Amino acid sequence: MRSFALLFFISTIVAVTVASTSDNVEVISQVVEIHRLRPQIGSAGYPVPQLDCLSWRLAVETNNIQKWKLVPSSCENYIGHYMLGKQYRHDCEAVANAAIEYAKSLKLGGDGKDVWVFDIDETTLSNLPYYARSDVAFGAIPYNNTKFNAWVAEGKAPAIPATLRVYKTVLSLGIKPVFITGTRESFKQVRITNLKKAGYSNWAKLVLKGDNDSGTAVEFKSSKRTELVKAGYRIVGNIGDQWSDLIGENVGSRTFKVPDPMYYIG
Ligand SMILES: *[C@@H]1O[C@H](CO)[C@@H](O)[C@H](O)[C@H]1NC(C)=O
Ligand SMILES: *[C@@H]1O[C@H](CO)[C@@H](O)[C@H](O)[C@H]1NC(C)=O
Repeated sequence: MRSFALLFFISTIVAVTVASTSDNVEVISQVVEIHRLRPQIGSAGYPVPQLDCLSWRLAVETNNIQKWKLVPSSCENYIGHYMLGKQYRHDCEAVANAAIEYAKSLKLGGDGKDVWVFDIDETTLSNLPYYARSDVAFGAIPYNNTKFNAWVAEGKAPAIPATLRVYKTVLSLGIKPVFITGTRESFKQVRITNLKKAGYSNWAKLVLKGDNDSGTAVEFKSSKRTELVKAGYRIVGNIGDQWSDLIGENVGSRTFKVPDPMYYIG
């Protein structure tokens, strides 16, 4: 009886609240049946004035928004907190857990031809120390190739811990890692040094973008994967932060998308 009274009391509050924003009594009598959720936290643990930025991020991650050039300036703060806070790490861990579970379930050929394709930037290595700079602003300031290349040349990008876990699991299972990156061939040595420093020291192939490689990222990555398949490799898995890593030809038996709301490569 008391719980009924309490329910009635709550319903009244809701009805009054809603009534203040609507004149339609018929609509109100339906609305009071709905449990009105009021989200208290966003990815940063803040109250959420920026739920629209969460919608933007979701649309970007699901490839519904394409060819975007910049993080919307109204979302710079949101994306910064997402990337530096726990949510980004947890999102990466969820992807890695699924990838590892899948990798362990595979029946492998045992002939050394099973490979797993890894993208590098924002998949294997993190450029977050660069993107967090105030003159980069998590992708809310236009991309500057000169500046970004200078950062890559430093060879200081840390590993993304979740992907490092996938990499180690894949290796332990006897699947060979193959890195395919849009980074230019001229950065090969610095990239090798950086990968090793970050804990990636073993791979079947490291494919960078050569002077003769033209076309879109989808075309470039597709052609390199097709070369693998023609050489007799089986791509059992493929992980990347961009959809262009994961669509096109010979994408692999399964693809895994790690988050990246800071930039788009088509
Ligand atoms: C890009 O960065 C370089 C090096 O900091 C700078 O000299 C150049 O003016 C920048 N370009 C643009 C378009 O901002
Ligand atoms: C690029 O293409 C040119 C012209 O076909 C060729 O001579 C050269 O060897 C190629 N370079 C590489 C690295 O494949």
